[in-house]
Amino acid sequence: MKLLESFKQFYASSIGKKLLVALSGAVLLLFLLGHLLGNLVIYLGRGALNDYAEFLHHALHGMGVWIARVGLLGAVGIHIMATIHLAAQNRAARHSRYAYESTQTASKASRTMIISGTIILCFIIFHLLHFTILPNDLKDVTTAGHVRPDVYGMVVKGFQNVLVSLFYIVSMAFVCFHLSHGVSSVFQTLGFRSEKSADMIKWLGHGYAAFIFLGNISIPIAVLLGFLKF
Ligand code: HEM
Repeated sequence: MKLLESFKQFYASSIGKKLLVALSGAVLLLFLLGHLLGNLVIYLGRGALNDYAEFLHHALHGMGVWIARVGLLGAVGIHIMATIHLAAQNRAARHSRYAYESTQTASKASRTMIISGTIILCFIIFHLLHFTILPNDLKDVTTAGHVRPDVYGMVVKGFQNVLVSLFYIVSMAFVCFHLSHGVSSVFQTLGFRSEKSADMIKWLGHGYAAFIFLGNISIPIAVLLGFLKF
């Protein structure tokens, strides 16, 4: 009971919400890196990507993927909820007579983060339907005769549709934009940004965002150019 009260107090403060946005954002940043490294296995061929997907789905007797899903869903939920509450709190504060110019600038940055974040959410819903929820009827038969879902075929077939590929590429641009600001925000909120390190952290954010962007868009582009074939 006391713990719940302390959490309520923590959440009521704007720094409490900022910390939750930053911590959940950090989880999502790490997920994106892991997911990209996993996606790049596609360049090792059908067998390698399907082995990797099979490993993910069978880790910890099938529990691993569910633990990751619950963790991810929790991080996405906390990130969105705390952002909405923080924006409402900032809006209320702006209407007070103590509003400063800097508050206006900060709210401009957070508004663009809210817009790119909303587009990313729409992308995630499409992406989950596309590759996770809707059934994948494609099958891959290993040399040992083992039949398993053909994740490689699903991705390549999916990106052979130019509109789908374009949608992914544009969505990745929004992910990139969101990350390039998000990385430095996480460092700042967690207290790791000083005047000395500010520039380095800014470039780290841009570099990280560019890596996620280029790595991910390389896949639909490689499919459209015929480097990755069904
Ligand atoms: C071109 C870029 C991407 C490709 C090729 C890709 C590919 C995939 C594939 C193949 C799966 C299904 C894996 C399986 O069932 O074995 C998947 C799942 C998923 N992807 Fe992506 N992805 C991309 C970008 C992204 C981005 C940018 C995000 C987040 C913003 C994201 C979030 C997810 C999530 C949350 C899942 C569900 C994991 C699960 O519960 O099974 N993906 N992705």
